[in-house]
Amino acid sequence: MNLILLGPPGAGKGTQAVYISKTYQIPSISTGDMLRAAVAANTPLGQEAKSLMEQGYLVPDDLILRMLAERLQEEDCKNGYILDGVPRTLVQAEEMDKQNILVDKVLNFEIPLDEVVARLSGRRVCPSCKATYHVLFQAPKAEGICDHCGATLMTRKDDEPESIQKRMEVYTEQTEPLITYYQGQQKLFGINALGTTKEVEERIRDVLGESV
Ligand code: AP5
Repeated sequence: MNLILLGPPGAGKGTQAVYISKTYQIPSISTGDMLRAAVAANTPLGQEAKSLMEQGYLVPDDLILRMLAERLQEEDCKNGYILDGVPRTLVQAEEMDKQNILVDKVLNFEIPLDEVVARLSGRRVCPSCKATYHVLFQAPKAEGICDHCGATLMTRKDDEPESIQKRMEVYTEQTEPLITYYQGQQKLFGINALGTTKEVEERIRDVLGESV
């Protein structure tokens, strides 16, 4: 099963990608995580992406498409994959179709924008194992420390208020049109992303069924 997770920044896509990956045994491919790894390693790709990401702008389409095509060649994608954060523009979606990158279902995380701002403002991430927390909604057992690996949690640079605002604008202008695009292909499934992570998991399971 090949899935796309669509929705505004902070809707809970990354959180649910972990659940889907574990439950259905398919890898989660997050272009955001791949770019952050490139920034941390200071590769040429990372150098190009860094300031765009920090300010809340999208990274150029050709760069994303190259990165995605390479990742999908890897052995673990043979039985399916979850695309978290890609496509983000109509150009990316159309090019993926041209390249025959298979998509069975698109899960569209539906959530009011004021709710995502609250989620992003309280997000903390583990720089080591990449686990995601929220200071109120998904707090770690010890404040500021990752439950899984003990690293000190940090705030993403693009979770500063100005970046959040820009990311919302970019989402509305460039990513939201994908809803109509995938509706047209009859692949879109709305997921109510409000409520607890468990409630959202159950809604996803209702759409995906027992096995994918
Ligand atoms: P990316 O990393 O993809 O960021 P995003 O889409 O903005 O998504 P987020 O990671 O912010 O949110 P999420 O929906 O995964 O929410 P999460 O689960 O963390 O992209 C970053 C940047 O990279 C982009 O801005 C762009 O520059 C670049 N980029 C990436 N892909 C690109 C592409 N294809 N094209 C061009 N550029 C690209 O949850 C958020 C918070 O809420 C967490 O604190 C979590 O604990 C909490 N939470 C989750 N679920 C719940 C719940 N049910 N109840 C309460 N709290 C919850």
